[in-house]
Amino acid sequence: MSYESNNLVARREAVVARGIPRATTAVIDSAAGAELRDATGRTWIDFAGGIGVANAGHCPPEVVAAITAQAQRLLHAGIHIATYEGYVALCERLVALLPHGGPTKAMLVNSGAEAVENAIKIARQATGRAAVICFTGAFHGRTLLGMTLTSKTGYKVGCGPFAPEIYRLPFPDRLRDGRGLDERTFDERSLVAFEEAMSTYVAPSELAAILIEPVLGEGGFVPASRGFLQGLRDIATRHGAMLVFDEVQTGFGRTGHWGAYQHFGVTPDLSTWAKAMGGGLPIAAVVGRAEVMDAARPGTIGGTYGGNPVACAAALANIDVLERRGLLARAQQVGARVRHEFEQLQRECKPVVDVRGIGAMIAMELCTDGDLDRPASRLVADALAAAFERGVIALSSGVHGNVIRVLSPLVISDDELDRGLAILCDEVKRRAA
Ligand SMILES: Cc1ncc(COP(=O)(O)O)c(C=O)c1O
Repeated sequence: MSYESNNLVARREAVVARGIPRATTAVIDSAAGAELRDATGRTWIDFAGGIGVANAGHCPPEVVAAITAQAQRLLHAGIHIATYEGYVALCERLVALLPHGGPTKAMLVNSGAEAVENAIKIARQATGRAAVICFTGAFHGRTLLGMTLTSKTGYKVGCGPFAPEIYRLPFPDRLRDGRGLDERTFDERSLVAFEEAMSTYVAPSELAAILIEPVLGEGGFVPASRGFLQGLRDIATRHGAMLVFDEVQTGFGRTGHWGAYQHFGVTPDLSTWAKAMGGGLPIAAVVGRAEVMDAARPGTIGGTYGGNPVACAAALANIDVLERRGLLARAQQVGARVRHEFEQLQRECKPVVDVRGIGAMIAMELCTDGDLDRPASRLVADALAAAFERGVIALSSGVHGNVIRVLSPLVISDDELDRGLAILCDEVKRRAA
């Protein structure tokens, strides 16, 4: 195939470890806005956004210019050694955009997994306790603690033993476990079960943190309910534990807000950010209540490259782009369009059992014959492969890979979005008949 003609895929297979996953055979040479291109000129509409990174689009000129200017001035200093403008300015920006209910502080690292690791270390030092409660369906990264906190076994098989003092409870799933129950009753039931776990799994006096994605990302775009998150907030406060939101996939405009916590009106003690924060450069953050953040002793958090000046410049410019171009509001429009098309498909196709998400974080779940116990993983894989051949790159998610999610750049035009959705929905429909 022409787009493989430069043989890069074969070269990759020869020298790159096969454990690094690869969703498509695309060989990307350049990208702009919501379009990916190979060296032969073949293009794809991007519904993956580099897994939720490119909210402001690919190569936003302002971000590229900021990176270039910064690179000519200072590539690296090391915040452990000296102070520089970008690190401080970015933390100022983060605490202003993402207040945690009073004085707020931030620290910078390189990846989502690192942010999660550091949030847990901070929570442990702030509470003097070890235990962490996390949830089924969660993805928190590929470091050993991140994997321990991650639910899907496919991501972690053969990598143990895992870290101790991690307790996993069911992420409330009203579609499967709450049929017939209204949201309030289901929330109450989920919170009673959570409280019960404090007698059967882990005593509240040992609990350092409750860690949750406000909307499951890799787990299939399942939003937690406001009532459940509020309940966790109350439980954490009552027991002196830290409520930690992992906003690595939900952050920086994806849900129509800087953070999904702002959508739910529930403020965590600590939160983690990465992906769309850097506009394409590797940078991540932990943000939290100042007194909690300052519980971490000097030397226990950070790292050589954390908050690298070039990455900070990219993040600051990227935040400006999100703000100036009104991309948080655009997320609502993009999401509404995706939802509309997916719901239309749901009316026509039995396998589409659910359409869900918030803002521009929308997905549809597919099950064979509409039977919730039979995830249509093959159908999803085939539909995505066919859509790829027709010029759309989209990703699956969910523990069984039977959820199609859209993480397109928020700068995507209505025309690109409609064309991409038409192809995606057509490929599902063909196989769902
Ligand atoms: C919610 C969440 N947390 C953490 C991570 C890990 O981020 P990274 O791959 O940057 O380590 C991811 C990555 O997909 C994620 O979605």
